[in-house]
Formats: sequence, C-alpha cells, structure tokens
Amino acid sequence: MLKIFTVVGARPQIIKSAAITRRIAETFSHSIVETLIHTGQHYDAAMSDQFFTELGVPPPAKNLAVGSGSHGAQTAKMLTALEELFLAERPDCVLIYGDTNSTVAAALAAAKIDIPVAHVEAGMRSFDKRMPEETNRVLSDHASTFLFCPTDIAVANLVREGFPIHSERATINMPFVANIGDVMFDNALRYTAEDQKIRMIQEVEIGEKPFALVTLHRAANTVDVKMVSDLFETLAKLSEHSGLEFFFPVHPRTLSMLNKSKEELNITFENSGLTFLKPMGYRDIIWAARNAKVVITDSGGLQKEAAFFNTPSVVVRPETEWVELVEAGLVLLSGRELPEMRAALDCQIKFQGYLPQGIYGNGNAAGAICELLLTHLG
Ligand code: UD1
Repeated sequence: MLKIFTVVGARPQIIKSAAITRRIAETFSHSIVETLIHTGQHYDAAMSDQFFTELGVPPPAKNLAVGSGSHGAQTAKMLTALEELFLAERPDCVLIYGDTNSTVAAALAAAKIDIPVAHVEAGMRSFDKRMPEETNRVLSDHASTFLFCPTDIAVANLVREGFPIHSERATINMPFVANIGDVMFDNALRYTAEDQKIRMIQEVEIGEKPFALVTLHRAANTVDVKMVSDLFETLAKLSEHSGLEFFFPVHPRTLSMLNKSKEELNITFENSGLTFLKPMGYRDIIWAARNAKVVITDSGGLQKEAAFFNTPSVVVRPETEWVELVEAGLVLLSGRELPEMRAALDCQIKFQGYLPQGIYGNGNAAGAICELLLTHLG
C-alpha cells in the first residue's frame, strides 16, 4: 500500500484535493491509502468545513489548528507541527496543492526529512515575487520530487528554471515533471451544478436579470480600508454603468475591511447594486461562474472556473499565472481605477469566444497522478 499524506489548509486546496481523494476511493483503494491533514489556515466553516460535506469527501484525519498569523509565524507553526507528524508516521509521499503558506510549509517539512513531495499545480508563475504566493510556488516546486503541471506553459516555466524532462524513476535530484492536466477541470466536469432558470443563493434570488460574480481577497487589493472602500465605490459605479447586478461573496479579510470602512469612513454600500453574500459553497460558485455574464475577481481559481464555462473575467491584478486565458480573451487584466475597469468590463461583456479544447486536460488529472505515484513509488 502506498501511504500518502495530503496537506491542505486553504479553501481552494480542499476543493482540489477532493478530486484525488474521490479517485483513490473509486479506483485505487486497493493500492493507495490517503491521510488528509488540515493545517487550519482557513478555519471558518464557510471557508473550510462546508466543502468536505458538499464534495462528499471525508473530513481531515487531523487538524493542526494553526489559524491566522503573519506569514512567518503561520508558516513556522505549520512547519513544526507537520515535521513532527511526518517523522512519527513516515508517509511514502506528501501531496500538496497550489501556492499557499500551507503548501510551502508541507513541502519544506517533508523534503528536509527525505519524504518525496508531490506538488499539484506545479510550474505556475506570475513572475511577481512581491506576491507571497509566488515565493510559495517557487520554493515548493524546488523541494518537490513530483511536479504535476496543469498546462504546457507550466512545464516550460520549470524547464527554464533548470528542471530536466526525463523518463527515469523520480528522485528529488531528478524530479518528475509533466503536464498531467488540471484537477480543477476534473472537478468542474463532475460537479457542474444543475442549471435552473431561477435560483436562490443564500436566500437571495438570482433571477432572469444578468449578473456579474465578484470576488476580491488578494493582499495587494486589500492593503487598507481606503483602498477597499475606493474599490467598492468603483464597483458600485460599474454595476450602475453596466446594468448588471453584482453578486459578491465576501472573503473574511475583505469583510473586515468593509466593516472598518463603515466605522472609520462612514461609508456603506447599501442600495449600491452590490449584493453581499457569505463565502459560497463550491457548487454555488460553479453555478454562479457558469451563469454570470462576467466575473470580476482577483482569484486564480475563479478566473479559470469561469473560463471552463466560457464566462469571461476581468482580473483585478497586474498579471496572472493562467496566461493562456489572456491569450484566449477569456481573461482581461485590469488595475483598480474606474476608467480602466470600465473599459475592461465593457470589453468582456461583449466577449463571444470559447476555451480552447484540451488546454486543461481531459478531466482525468487525478487518475493520472495516482498512476504516476504508484509507478514511481509503488
Ligand atoms: C490564502 C492564500 C491565497 C489563496 C487564499 C484562498 C497564502 C499566503 N494565501 O489567502 O493564496 O488564494 O488563501 O482563499 O497562503 N480569515 C478568517 N477566517 C478564515 C481564514 C482567514 O477570518 O477561515 C481572515 C484572517 O483575518 C486572516 C485573513 O483572513 O488573517 C487572511 O487569511 P490567510 O489564510 O492568511 O490568507 P488568504 O487571504 O485567505
């Protein structure tokens, strides 16, 4: 039996890991045993627990309850707790996802005690090291033995950094690098929520009226109260300008800034065309991404989930790791200023194109990962 420890901590990792957990249960239960470890980076029920329930995967075997903190403090707590656990249990492999502090902590803890690390979503680069996620990505990749890339561009990024492409047995010095497709595409195919004409999300009726789905949570867009309230004023104007209703499931970090802007600046966004929601469940967000006229976001995951359904996005960031979506016209990058956002929104509302076929695999990335781990480590 191949003993895998999967480490998750943030909302998108729970969603991504569900694809592999399910695949192990369906096809590989005779050869792989997986233990799910939650670092506790995300801890609100709406950011964590609800996903296990709705994706039908068992809750984590262990929660390290690390909680929020500065980057260093949070990562250090995870590193200590994970190392202790890995030393005691000696898994054959540690499986990690994406680019969060939980990812890099697990990668460092395992690699330093000679446990192979398998990184899902390897090779993604924004080429902006001011983003904490970029540091996490680069460090995690360079501590990994398996670099499971979601696109050819991700493979090319790693080749540029000196990773070899070969067919030998993978080791930390001779890691395995390949495009195996995107586990998020596996999920989207599986969980495409039922399409209904009128639908309620958190007691808000989403009717016939065209709408935009909006999410913003990145550190760079939530630096202080003034930035957040300016951004929301811009969004309110854009809602009026476009005639679209803006549905906004709010991340806890953004919510705390909004609450402060009420207290400190006396600004509220009631009657502004913005409808605020709690963080959405996975099926709801997939449904909303599919049915929205346009998505406005700074999330790496959501811009791609929207694109799976040919929904265009305005991405409020200077760059994106998913450059193929920019090329396809599905993503248009924008700054935070009103004229630039208005021009981007006007352009994306008219978008008529499609996601190029096969760029995120064939919906079986999870199966490919299981087979490759068994071939190399089994
Ligand atoms: C983290 C990831 C980011 C990812 C995002 C997905 C890092 C560096 N960033 O960002 O790459 O896109 O997860 O959602 O790992 N908070 C709560 N309740 C929670 C979780 C967080 O209130 O359950 C609040 C806390 O005030 C916390 C803040 O949100 O300090 C930020 O949380 P954190 O996990 O540090 O980063 P995210 O912005 O969620």
